[in-house]
This record gives sequence, C-alpha cells and structure tokens, in this order.
Amino acid sequence: MKASTERLVEKLRTAPRLRVLFVCLGNICRSPAAEGVMRAVADAGCDASRWEIDSAGTGDWHVGDLPDKRMRIHARRRGLELIHRCRQVRVADFDDFDIIVGMDESNLRNLHALAPTFEAGAKIVGMAEFVGKAMRYDYIPDPYYEGAEGFELVLDLLDDGCRNLYRLLGGC
Ligand code: 4NP
Repeated sequence: MKASTERLVEKLRTAPRLRVLFVCLGNICRSPAAEGVMRAVADAGCDASRWEIDSAGTGDWHVGDLPDKRMRIHARRRGLELIHRCRQVRVADFDDFDIIVGMDESNLRNLHALAPTFEAGAKIVGMAEFVGKAMRYDYIPDPYYEGAEGFELVLDLLDDGCRNLYRLLGGC
C-alpha cells in the first residue's frame, strides 16, 4: 500500500460513517461488481449502517444501464445481484465520498485530473493496493473484451480486495 493510502485508511478507520465510491471506465463491469461485493461484505459485518457504497465510471457511454449481462451472471453465481444503474463520476463525488477507489492506472489518472483540490485528490486510491500479495495483480484488469475467465478473475480480485479494505477501514 502507498504511504498516502495508509494515511487515508488510518484517518478513516474510526469514522462513524464511511462513504466509499468505486470507479472504473464504463461503470458496467468492475466498479458495480466492487460495489456489490463490498455491500455484501458490509451487510455480513457488525455495522452495515456505517457504510454507504456506490460506483461510477469515468466514461459516459453506458449511463442509465444495468451492469454488463456477463458480469451480472458471474456475480449471481456468487450470490450477488447487481442492480446499480450506470452513472458518470462527477466533481461533487469528491465531497460526497470519503474514499474513491479506482480500478486501474487510467481510472486513477482520470480521477486525479477531475479532483478539484489537493484534499480531494488525497481521497483517491487504487483497488489493487488492497489485493493480497498471493494474487499478484497491480490493477484490476478490464474484462469487457475478455471471456468468462476475465469476469471470474475480476470477482476473485474484488472479493480479496474488498475484504481487506473493509478490515483496514475498521469493519468487523
Ligand atoms: P468497466 O469495463 O470499466 O469495468 O465497466 C468496460 C465497460 C465498457 C467499456 C469499457 C470498459 N466500453 O468501452 O464501453
């Protein structure tokens, strides 16, 4: 984990409320899946009402759409119903969320370009920072042009990363 991420996580660990925004490119595959995984982890934990979880995309091609059918099918096999409606990330998200989690370097670059202030930029972290060493991925790969294995890989990485993120943020 980057030192700046460690500082942010430490600051949020005892916050009474936590607002987490996951961001990818299209907001139809990786980030709505991350939202669903994180919500399931929080719902199974001790204080689900502490958590507000949402997702958004840096692009606007799919605004209003449900997540990609393939991602919904793979998620459903794991007991997750993804019903998020795609939306584009907006400047106000830097006020409305405490931590903004990008899936890959391109998402992180786009988020930094959008951040209105230094403090807003300090809320941006990479999802892969929370993925355990055993999985050895430094970004969450875009599954859009991949086969079934790509979607399964994303869900495995998100499952590991969200559990770690939840614990680091003081979830129990
Ligand atoms: P996501 O995947 O960023 O994980 O939602 C993508 C979905 C759609 C597109 C690209 C990536 N697209 O180009 O439409």
